[in-house]
Amino acid sequence: MAKRLIEPNTTLYPVPVVLITAGIAIPNVMTCNRIASCSAEPPRLAISVRPIRHSHLLITMTREFVVNIPSPAQDILTDYIGVVTGNKEDKIATAGLKLAHASFVQTPLLADCPVNIECVVEQQIELDSHTMFIGLVKAVHAEERLLNDNGEVDFARAQGIAYDSAVVRERPTYNFSVDELRTAVALVK
Ligand SMILES: Cc1cc2nc3c(=O)[nH]c(=O)nc-3n(C[C@H](O)[C@H](O)[C@H](O)COP(=O)(O)O)c2cc1C
Repeated sequence: MAKRLIEPNTTLYPVPVVLITAGIAIPNVMTCNRIASCSAEPPRLAISVRPIRHSHLLITMTREFVVNIPSPAQDILTDYIGVVTGNKEDKIATAGLKLAHASFVQTPLLADCPVNIECVVEQQIELDSHTMFIGLVKAVHAEERLLNDNGEVDFARAQGIAYDSAVVRERPTYNFSVDELRTAVALVK
């Protein structure tokens, strides 16, 4: 099969899409697909966030963030959180998301997501368009139904994760209705 040279970009497959909570006094949430596992002992995750994002300010101030993994039923929610800024709207209230206390960090978890990973920022690396925050994983919360016999999260038991990990959809166009968002949240219960 013939191949074509396309513009340099970060094409990868699969692409995890997660919801990052940040902020303690007034928490916010943003969608993020620039996320990678970057060490095992101890475990670390790296996320890259544009400096213009409200979440960037919150992570820089608090030096912590929580990675919340959405389920497939939360696709629309994930779109919404990825196109609206917390600078202008309280996304958590609009979508009717429930927060839960974390066990180590002060940033709250999204109770509606089946997996939550608490991280403390160890390093901040400026990479032109984005800042990469390297987070030391301090705690992982996983719904019991997702755990296999070894106590590991098996995403097959969750029917995958939001977006099916297949496409980078950084600019979804969608007319969100609050009812649809809340239905998406409720579907996961
Ligand atoms: C699928 C998807 C993935 C995204 N990934 C990132 C990302 O990795 N880094 C980033 O800075 N913005 C990313 N965005 C954009 C932010 O989520 C979006 O600008 C959001 O409104 C920022 O919210 P905030 O200003 O409340 O922090 C993504 C959006 C979508 C829909």
